[in-house]
This record gives sequence, structure tokens and C-alpha cells, in this order.
Amino acid sequence: MNKNIAIFGAQQGDEAKGSLSHYLSTDFDWVVRFGGSNNCGHTIYTNGKKYVHNLIPSIDFSNTKTKGFLGSGMVIDPKALLDELLKLEEDFPGVSQKIFVDPDAFVVLSKHIEEDKEKNTHIGSTGKGVSPSYRDKIDRCGIKLSALMHDKINVINDLENLGVRFEYASSIMKELKQSNIIFEGSQSIRLDYNYGSYPYVTSGECGLNGIMSSGFAKIAPTKIYGICKIYETKVGSGPFPTELDGKAADELRERGKEYGAVTKRPRRIGWLDLPALNYAIEKGGITNLIMTKLDILNGMKKIPVCHKYDKQPMSGHDFFSAKPEYIEVNGWEDPRDPNQVKEFINLVQDSTKTKVSMISCGINKSDIINLN
Ligand code: IMP
Ligand code: MG
Repeated sequence: MNKNIAIFGAQQGDEAKGSLSHYLSTDFDWVVRFGGSNNCGHTIYTNGKKYVHNLIPSIDFSNTKTKGFLGSGMVIDPKALLDELLKLEEDFPGVSQKIFVDPDAFVVLSKHIEEDKEKNTHIGSTGKGVSPSYRDKIDRCGIKLSALMHDKINVINDLENLGVRFEYASSIMKELKQSNIIFEGSQSIRLDYNYGSYPYVTSGECGLNGIMSSGFAKIAPTKIYGICKIYETKVGSGPFPTELDGKAADELRERGKEYGAVTKRPRRIGWLDLPALNYAIEKGGITNLIMTKLDILNGMKKIPVCHKYDKQPMSGHDFFSAKPEYIEVNGWEDPRDPNQVKEFINLVQDSTKTKVSMISCGINKSDIINLN
């Protein structure tokens, strides 16, 4: 059995997946992205400085070993990739040589971006051209990166000159089979177009489906971490059963700095939703949980948690009509004290029948705590 792991969003995106991938990356040979595009904003801190990764996997580049792979299930705007790498090169010279890109990935063209901005604002799309590019892929009129390579397009030459390697997953499969790999999900299981509240979903695959369709079936992960904040946020439109409004939402948004990393939009805010988490665990095959941002609720005496709906959701459609019921658990002053967070963690574990393996209580690596 391989030691490969996956990191999936278990809510509606922005669960701090990037910081976990960054934290764990130094113990792994590769971090692989398999779906989505630069609609993602993975916020990570290296040596106290903030970086937002969009296409590049969330790797700690102060470590020299770990390499990043952009899989064929992604859709990629090569100019956006070049810009992101040029910025990273300023702090991490030579970083591009650690980046591999599958030529089977499809291209996001400028016409896709224009169309997305024009047609998909009602969904709350990030406007990066993601859904029109995936549509063209399925409609058999898309363009693969391999076609741009064949035509020796300037931006591809620029990427190659920087050190980026274009390699099919199959070409390096021998090495991948001997490596430890993190599969870093984008968005979240509840935003996947198969499982989410359609049509308020993204067009990339966010779970094991994306890993399989990117050609990694032989090295599929054996441990799947679902990342879950201790409250919930959403950007974009669509159902959000535990959503707060008014002052309560505003306060929590400020405390948690809940503004979109890509679009800067204020995120919608709500309480932790355990029926929805259970849904994501089932659909995503999640084996372990990691709870994040515990520090944001420090000092709160009682924390509301939705523990059930009037009926358990069976489909993404059920979130439109869900009626949440709440209980309150005791809060904490210091989430590093196991006794203070015990009640909360036990509630999550009992409700989901899934172990909470780690918690995070801040933005630094030292704020991530392994629970045994
Ligand atoms: P698109 O993927 O840009 O088409 O956006 C579709 C939906 O997914 C919208 O509601 C977006 O706000 C949401 N979405 C896309 N990427 C992210 C993300 O990285 N975090 C959270 N939500 C996202
Ligand atoms: Mg994000």
C-alpha cells in the first residue's frame, strides 16, 4: 500500500487546505494538483511572508526537495502560470525547475475568460474562464497544452526557459510510483459538479474522481484528509443552510479575515454544519479530518453547531431546502489545551465517525497540532 495522501476541502472551499498541504509538503516528494485552475487561492505563509498560490501546488519552497505537478485534469491559462512563477522566482530562484506540467491539460483561452465574466456571474464564478474551458474539453473542441507546445507558442517557450518541464504523468509514472505524493484538491467536495448543489458548483473535479481522471489510478491515495473549518464560509451563490447574516456574520468575517483570496469578495459566513460534513465525507471517501482556524473562536463561551437537518441530505439538491437544528458546545480560551477543545472534537468525531487527526490554531506551521 502506498503512503500517498489526498487533501480535500470538506466544506464549500477556503478551508485552509493550502496551509495543510504546505505544512505536510516537506515530508513528501511531490504535491500534485489534479483539477481546477487559478480559480483557487491557496494562502500560505513561508518564513512569515504571505503567498497566494493559484495554479502552483501549495509547497513549502524553502524546502528544496518537493516538486509540484499540474495534472491533466486541470485547465491552465499559460500566461497566468508564467506570471505566478515569475513572482515566486523573486523569492525562490529556480523554483520553476521543480514544476512539472502535463501536456494533456486543457488550455484556458482569453475567449473563455471573457465568456465566463459575461455569463457566469449569477453563479458567483471567479471569472477565470474555468467553466467555458471545461465545456470545450467535454464538447471535443478544446485545446490541449500539447497543441501549444507543437506550435511553439511564445509563452510555452518562456515557461520552458524558466525551467518548467512538460511531462505526461505516464512518462514519469515510474518515479511517481517510488515517491510519496500529496494530491492537493482544489475547491471542495461540495463544489464538485457531481456532488454539489448544481448549478452552484465549479466545473473541475474536486475529489477522487479528479485524481482518477488525471491518470493517477495506480498511485491513488490511501489516506484522504478532509479539511474543515470550525465554522463555514462560502463565496459565490447557492444554498448555505447555516448561513448567518448581519452583525454576527460581519464580526466573524473580520475575526477570520474571510475575504476571497482570488476575488477579494467578502465571504458568506455560517456555523459548522455536521450533516453537510457527513455528506462530504461520504462523497469524498474522506478517512480523516483536519479542523482549522480554531483560534478564530478563542474566548467564545458557547459555540453553535448544526448537528442535524430535518432530513439527512442525500443529494446536493437537498441543501436548498435543509432546515438546520443547532446545539451549543463549550468554547475555549486556548485551543492548544486538549481538555478545552475535547467536547468540540468529540462532537465532530462522534457525529462523523471519523478521526480528527490534526487541528490548526494559527497561520504558522507551529500552529498545526497532531492529535493522537
Ligand atoms: P468558478 O469555478 O470560477 O466557475 O466558480 C464556481 C463557483 O465555485 C463559485 O461559487 C465560486 O465562488 C466557487 N469557487 C471557485 N473556486 C473557489 C475557491 O477556490 N474557493 C471557494 N469557492 C470557489
Ligand atoms: Mg481559497
